[in-house]
Amino acid sequence: MERKTRIIAIANQKGGVGKTTTVVNLAASLSLLKKTVLVIDLDPQANATSGLGLQRQQGVSLYPILTGAADIADVIQPTPYENINIIPSELDLAGAEIEIARQPNHLTVIHDVLDRVLQAGVFDYILMDCPPSLGILMTASLAAADGIVVTMQCEYYAMEGLSVITELINKLHDNGANPNLKLEGILMTMFDGRTRLAADVVEEVRKHFGDLVYNAVIPRSVRVSEAPSFGQPVVFYDPSNRASLAYREFAKEFSKRMRAAEQELAPQPSVPAEPEPAVEQQPSSEP
Ligand SMILES: Nc1ncnc2c1ncn2[C@@H]1O[C@H](COP(=O)(O)OP(=O)(O)OP(=O)(O)O)[C@@H](O)[C@H]1O
Ligand SMILES: [Mg+2]
Repeated sequence: MERKTRIIAIANQKGGVGKTTTVVNLAASLSLLKKTVLVIDLDPQANATSGLGLQRQQGVSLYPILTGAADIADVIQPTPYENINIIPSELDLAGAEIEIARQPNHLTVIHDVLDRVLQAGVFDYILMDCPPSLGILMTASLAAADGIVVTMQCEYYAMEGLSVITELINKLHDNGANPNLKLEGILMTMFDGRTRLAADVVEEVRKHFGDLVYNAVIPRSVRVSEAPSFGQPVVFYDPSNRASLAYREFAKEFSKRMRAAEQELAPQPSVPAEPEPAVEQQPSSEP
């Protein structure tokens, strides 16, 4: 069956706010919902690549694709997990920024190379793990995306810098590069239930952004930080862990919200003016 592929960028130019952990565990949780996922690791640190159990490999990344040196089909790799594929990252991706910046179509490069993947209709979701910077790769990934999920750590200054992303969204709307780009939602991560601060931060963010903030909040757990060293999402490494359960809840909420938004956009069927009577009325033969 051909699938409609949605492209989601997980972004925040702030470092260490749970972007990669969210990409890896959202992919795992969606795969458990029988969705097919392609992860694209856009960060030269390659944490999503290793977090899904793959080694960094020279020439196997988006880099040779964006420079026209290879075909996208050559770099899509299977992971040890059913329904999860990945375009890994490598250090050369850092150099790609400079090379891509010289190309006249630098804003649309990622959009252009993903077109073939969309046509193939193999994936339900493409999840892009963005680096903690506002470079060309991050901008080009937002230009290619249908939506953005912003992760925020439950710490002071959590919202700091979000205006940078909203300005970038407005810019991509205004210059026509991606008029439909949408801030899908905000996911609060690394919630520490023992501190008043974490609860205050979540409350403050909800006050500002209301329903944009997902109900699911990801708790802080040592198991989350252990899992990557085993090349596993925590959802598989320790399925009953609180953070694993929270990520699975988040995945359900994420896909439900997405479906609801699409139904709103879909043309409504026209309602017939006069409903046909279901049964013809017979003249009563009763006396
Ligand atoms: N819920 C959690 N509980 C405990 N540790 C977590 C949790 N989420 C993320 N971490 C840890 O926090 C660190 C930063 O997380 P992560 O790498 O996902 O952030 P990032 O936003 O992708 O960082 P960067 O900006 O460097 O790419 C990692 O060591 C990760 O294992
Ligand atoms: Mg990261």
